Amino acid sequence: MSSGVNACLIIVLLRVLFTDSTHSNQVMLLDTTTVLGELGWKTYPVNGWDTITEMDEQNRPIHTFQVCHVMEPNQNNWLRSNWISRQAAQKVFVELRFTLRDCNSIPWVSGTCKETFNLYYMETDESHSVKFKPGHYTKIDTIAADESFTQTDLGDRILKLNTEVREVGPITQKGFYLAFQDIGACIALVSVRVYYKKCPFTLRNLATFPDTIPRMDSSSLVEVRGTCVNNAEERDTPKLYCGADGDWLVPLGRCVCSRGYEELDGTCFACRPGFYKAFTGNTKCSKCPLHSFTYDEGSSLCQCEAGFFRAGKDPPTMACTRPPSPPRNVVFNINETSLFLEWSPPSDTGGRSDLTYNVLCKKCGSDPEQCELCGGGLRFFPRPQGLTNASVTVLDFAAHANYTFEIESLNGVSELGSFPRPVAAITVSTEQGGPSLVGMVKKDWASPSSIALSWQEPEQHDTAVLDYEIKYYEKEHEQLSYSSTRTKTPSAIIAGLKPSTHYVFHVRARTSAGYSSYGPKVEYETGDDASNMAADQGQVLVIVTAAVGGFALLVILTLFFLITGRCQWYIKAKMKSVEKRRANCLNGHIPSPEVKTYIDPDAYEDPTQAVQEFAKEINPTWIHIERVIGAGEFGEVCSGRLRPPGMREIPVAIKTLKGGSVECQRRDFLREASIMGQFDHPNIIRLEGVVTKSQPVMIVVEYMEKGSLDSFLRKHDAQLTMIQLVGMLRGIAAGMKYLSDMGYVHRDLAARNILVNSNLVCKVSDFGLSRVLEDDPEAAYTTTGGKIPIRWTSPEAIAYRKFSSASDVWSYGIVMWEVMSYGERPYWEMSNQDVILSIEEGYRLPAPMGCPVALHQLMLHCWQEERSHRPRFTDIVSFLEKLICNPSSLLPLVEDMESLPESPGDVSDYPLFISIGDWLDSIKMSQYKNNFLAAGYTTLDSVSRMSIEDVRRTGVTLIGHQRRIVSSIQMLRLQLLHIQETGFHV
Ligand code: ADE
Repeated sequence: MSSGVNACLIIVLLRVLFTDSTHSNQVMLLDTTTVLGELGWKTYPVNGWDTITEMDEQNRPIHTFQVCHVMEPNQNNWLRSNWISRQAAQKVFVELRFTLRDCNSIPWVSGTCKETFNLYYMETDESHSVKFKPGHYTKIDTIAADESFTQTDLGDRILKLNTEVREVGPITQKGFYLAFQDIGACIALVSVRVYYKKCPFTLRNLATFPDTIPRMDSSSLVEVRGTCVNNAEERDTPKLYCGADGDWLVPLGRCVCSRGYEELDGTCFACRPGFYKAFTGNTKCSKCPLHSFTYDEGSSLCQCEAGFFRAGKDPPTMACTRPPSPPRNVVFNINETSLFLEWSPPSDTGGRSDLTYNVLCKKCGSDPEQCELCGGGLRFFPRPQGLTNASVTVLDFAAHANYTFEIESLNGVSELGSFPRPVAAITVSTEQGGPSLVGMVKKDWASPSSIALSWQEPEQHDTAVLDYEIKYYEKEHEQLSYSSTRTKTPSAIIAGLKPSTHYVFHVRARTSAGYSSYGPKVEYETGDDASNMAADQGQVLVIVTAAVGGFALLVILTLFFLITGRCQWYIKAKMKSVEKRRANCLNGHIPSPEVKTYIDPDAYEDPTQAVQEFAKEINPTWIHIERVIGAGEFGEVCSGRLRPPGMREIPVAIKTLKGGSVECQRRDFLREASIMGQFDHPNIIRLEGVVTKSQPVMIVVEYMEKGSLDSFLRKHDAQLTMIQLVGMLRGIAAGMKYLSDMGYVHRDLAARNILVNSNLVCKVSDFGLSRVLEDDPEAAYTTTGGKIPIRWTSPEAIAYRKFSSASDVWSYGIVMWEVMSYGERPYWEMSNQDVILSIEEGYRLPAPMGCPVALHQLMLHCWQEERSHRPRFTDIVSFLEKLICNPSSLLPLVEDMESLPESPGDVSDYPLFISIGDWLDSIKMSQYKNNFLAAGYTTLDSVSRMSIEDVRRTGVTLIGHQRRIVSSIQMLRLQLLHIQETGFHV
């Protein structure tokens, strides 16, 4: 039989089948299909193997080696390659493509025909030709064909091209020869490729990783540290692991773009002129804040426009601001012992909220240029400088003197502005107070709780009365306290009084020149309870308004109590209807009321007993480990499959305990399983079981396809819908509610400790930390894994290790922030110490971009300093469920609120008030409580409909106060709208 018998067929096969199958992770050492000249391989004996070189249509040679001495016995034909350099490889792969005829297909062959050939190699450092000695070669394998022939539809038999790959190694010398031994088969060797595998250069998380050769040992990985791309910095050391197949595994750590640079397609680009980035991180460059600019690329800070400044503590993200204009409308009121100065805030606060006032007293003669300072005789209450309210009382002034008071407004950048600063001045003569402009005060009617008064307006006085102030107190308590209210008209209804009680009233007028003296005191008594004052107009007004407003107040109370969790009886009463609606909306299951209690495994004398009680023992043969997916504190974490007999196979994650661990490490490792095994909830990672009776010790848990929440969020930056985000938050809160109901405190709740599955269900994991923190007095700052998670931990837990479900709620607020910012680092690159200090000073994380107001409100509630004021997880779950059921409630975004005209300076301030008193207290306008009451505003609902005119009518005359109240009313209106949209109906 001729060895050229297959040649033609083979060339056809080659043309059809030779596509370039080189992979990016293969480095080719030899490929006979690409060698253009002679191969120069040797044959022994020379008439054994034939070397046949055909030309393809592009005139490129196709080298094949054929042998077919099937009729002759005792064949021993060798074909030897040239010397092949191993380069960087430790292990190489030899891929052979060949055809091999089966002996049955060749007529008249005797028993001499064979159907295999042998592959050999020999390592040498020398590339020069060495004499061929078969005994020096090591056998790699016997190669047989998968199939020799295939039957076509027409009954023809065509030769089948076989591909076989063998691993060779470890190779330690510089190169090697391959040899092919034929012992009587009919073979055509059509290509030989020799290659090794590498993990190719790659770019991940803004770090580059070089070409890396895997280890010989296929079960261990090569750890490779990445190098940050230009203008990026390490956040956590970026690492990848190079697997045996040339694949990169387990990305850890990352780089983030430096200040002034933002990420785009794996590179850090400089911010454009007009844009800046103040912090290292994966945020985008932002437009320069108001009144600032930059003409440079890559700015980390924008410069302030002329006349605008940044105070030392102003963050670079804040708008540039300027000193305020002077105060306005200074008025005074004087009696024998005290001089009261009051003014309106400046029309321009300079864009800041840290407004204060300084008052300077001068004594001036007839020449205003010749003033001198008043000296130390005067006393100012509360103080002359750094006043936060727009008023001051002056005591111990001399009679019969003229004082000039200069009042200056200041803010955090006043020092940086120009001098002298503009002031508002008023000259006060201490001769006497103005004459009383108010005649006799009459009682029009009285009810048990109110008295209506009226008096004569002053006749033909040259200055118009701006308003009247009515001062009143219980006659019996004259020395203790008094109240006051104002009105623009010469009448007032004083409400909120005690029945059958004597009150003293006196009234004074205010004109642009200041207050007049008080008119004479009058004394009137309220009616008693029994007296039938059905016609009492004031009361009717109050009652009717209260009834109308009651609905709204109840609405607000519901929300308030649900969120603060302060009124548990109320929540319980509401539970039934709330649960019913929740089930309707979410199609969800309502958890059973029975509550299991968590048992601390440390309570067991023998910790293995706890493991036995709470975790199933798994036979290791049921586990099939597939990949290493990470490195845990105690050893590798792998993915794989678990198939207990008679049950379906499930994907699992397997945490392993490193060989050589000591007993206490084994105990700590299994402690997590003893904790996890006690939980059974869809939002808590499920323990499948443990392997403790053989090595390695393992913990097997359900597999979560998307890995940890923080890296998942970073990978899907801005790609999730609001409902997906809130749904994830709800899941985490539900898991935490379950844990807190069981009495378990997590202590390390953070996005990195939440796992996400393919349906985006979030599950709380990592139950190892609690004992470490509890027992170790140093653990507030260091644990074996690093530092206490300061950024996630509540102030009381940091300060005196007071861990509780309330401190978990604080951490939950931080997780909310991580979720809404797609995995941004809380407090960015601030140091831990700065985080602690700024929290103490009342700073809280601002809303991430695109964050609904309702969610930022919830975060702020979680971060209440007083832990009993924080919501409980049950409140959080129901609040989030309401948001999900009413998606329109998620539409108002914090940035939209910021752009509202006249909204209060700090948008993080949107507390939920429950009474007009609370509301006025919160905006420091408590002095108007009675005005609102007297004017018939008894509910926030009615207040929310007030116009500026209505506000003026209640007697708020200072323009600054009117503005503050009106802007707060706008906020109130939005809150009520929001409440209606979120469905907080009774
Ligand atoms: N990493 C750690 N635990 C895991 C799990 N259960 N699923 C996926 N990745 C994990």
